[in-house]
Amino acid sequence: MKKLFVFLDNFLYRVIIRNFLKLSKLGYGFVVTGAESGANFEHLYNNRPEGKFIVGRYIDKALLNLPAAHATRGRKEDLKNVLWNEIHNNELTGKKTRVLDLASGGARYLRELSDEHKSGIVESICIDRDRKCVLLGRNLVKTEGIENIKFFRGDIFKLKHLQEFGGKITWRPNVIVASGLFIYFNNSTVENMLKEMFDFLPSGGLSVFSSYETLDTKKLMRKAMSTSSGQQWTLYYRKPEYWRKLLYDIGFQGVNITRDRWQMNNICSARK
Ligand SMILES: C[S@@+](CC[C@H](N)C(=O)[O-])C[C@H]1O[C@@H](n2cnc3c(N)ncnc32)[C@H](O)[C@@H]1O
Repeated sequence: MKKLFVFLDNFLYRVIIRNFLKLSKLGYGFVVTGAESGANFEHLYNNRPEGKFIVGRYIDKALLNLPAAHATRGRKEDLKNVLWNEIHNNELTGKKTRVLDLASGGARYLRELSDEHKSGIVESICIDRDRKCVLLGRNLVKTEGIENIKFFRGDIFKLKHLQEFGGKITWRPNVIVASGLFIYFNNSTVENMLKEMFDFLPSGGLSVFSSYETLDTKKLMRKAMSTSSGQQWTLYYRKPEYWRKLLYDIGFQGVNITRDRWQMNNICSARK
């Protein structure tokens, strides 16, 4: 009986739901082109339903209205607000903000700070391993007429050390962003990356990243969607207490963690 239930459950998610999802733009991206792609997140932020036929648009609308989708748009707003605040605090003391965005996708939260970038009080370098995301970012800043945001291709885990990467750029970031990144990696990988961020930042520099405590779409994502390497979309959910302790243990100060109204998304920021 249990085996039959498992078979039917798998059939429901892996055949029926997957094929329905493919009709919608977001569903197609999450099922076929690679769930983690920054391009899917641009569509999620745009929040304009698209899909094949009326049914595809209807499915897209339903996906874009899930609490998890609202929480993801909310994380972009929360992150943008932290960055906006840092940029203007730095401006007051005559300091330029230099942002390094790890796994940037289209870096929407930076692009939406277009006035700050245009005025030159902030400059950003965005790194993503996916060529399509890098081209997407470059095209978007061009069409939106935004200056001072550059996109480069790179695997942040193959840069060996952020210090080594630092040798290749002419400036040192005083803000390091990682949005939608740590959720894909286990604790030891995340802990090493945060230690590297700490070492790479100058004194007073800020680290900002996003994390999910949970998502209402966990099962759907795990069973029906796949990453670009064709694997199940398995994510690592973490509580604020984990981040708070880790950040203080590493040596960060002034840890600030936001929690959204769905208790799904956290934006964590901490200063060296
Ligand atoms: C969920 S998207 C997040 C995009 C953007 N930061 C945001 O929050 O909207 C994750 C991005 O991480 C990129 N990525 C994943 N692993 C990476 C790695 N090892 N090095 C660089 N980029 C990576 C993917 O290509 C993808 O664009």
